[in-house]
Amino acid sequence: MCRDKHKREKNRAYVQQLRDRRQGYACSFHLARRRPVGSGWRDGTPAGPLSDGVVLLRLPHEGDSEAVWTYGQDPDIAETHWLPLFAPCSRAAATRLVQEFQHGWDGRFGLTLVITTPPACDLCGVVNLSIRAQGVGEIAYGVAPQHRRRGLATRAVSLVAAWAFAQVGLRRLEICVTAPGVHGVASHRVAEKAGFFDDGMCRSCVPATGVAYEDRLYALVAPGMPETGRPDAAPA
Ligand SMILES: CC(C)(COP(=O)(O)OP(=O)(O)OC[C@H]1O[C@@H](n2cnc3c(N)ncnc32)[C@H](O)[C@@H]1OP(=O)(O)O)[C@@H](O)C(=O)NCCC(=O)NCCS
Repeated sequence: MCRDKHKREKNRAYVQQLRDRRQGYACSFHLARRRPVGSGWRDGTPAGPLSDGVVLLRLPHEGDSEAVWTYGQDPDIAETHWLPLFAPCSRAAATRLVQEFQHGWDGRFGLTLVITTPPACDLCGVVNLSIRAQGVGEIAYGVAPQHRRRGLATRAVSLVAAWAFAQVGLRRLEICVTAPGVHGVASHRVAEKAGFFDDGMCRSCVPATGVAYEDRLYALVAPGMPETGRPDAAPA
């Protein structure tokens, strides 16, 4: 009962935060907009699409607003916030969101890549990478209801992580799982299957309400790096 109440409060807080336009996806409380500094960086975006043969990640383009609008008519959006929209969303809202995605590092979501499944090139989901601190990135993701449970989020996270370590020069990546219920379970599994380890709890605060939450933090360090805690974590 108490847990349900907590979940309902959290859901309300998500919506409030969306209203404040301070939030990306459900697991993106810590989005920062700084550009990363590192070797191999090419204008802040991958030199070409990232693909493992099943999933292809590409930059967003204007044409994505039609798919975003269609997804924005689905009540699932209100429940999961896999896209930061209100359902039903207007065409103008869909266009604005895609434009924000296109702003990449200069926008509030960080680098946003569109998840597609070749040969189709339509948007099935989104994954974003933002910089939390020097050398530390955060990954957030969302997949459309009809494309879930096909391994897309796991593949997308693995692709972005490999690229971020190899090309951006990040040392550590984090996923903060804030989604409640079944989506939280799925998100935990995505992090684990993409090789992230459980790094304890992270504290986040919803600015609109001042309510603070403890959420599960997952982390992955660059190959060859020791598994250390958050660089900015308070000493025990
Ligand atoms: C979380 C989310 C991104 C997962 O995307 P996905 O493409 O379906 O994930 P995958 O197919 O890669 O699944 C990864 C694992 O999660 C499991 N999983 C996925 N959906 C699940 C569900 N509804 N219930 C239980 N497990 C689930 C999969 O079975 C898989 O584990 P397994 O291989 O051990 O079976 C998607 O459900 C979503 O967008 N949810 C709404 C937004 C959200 O919650 N985002 C994350 C916020 S932290």
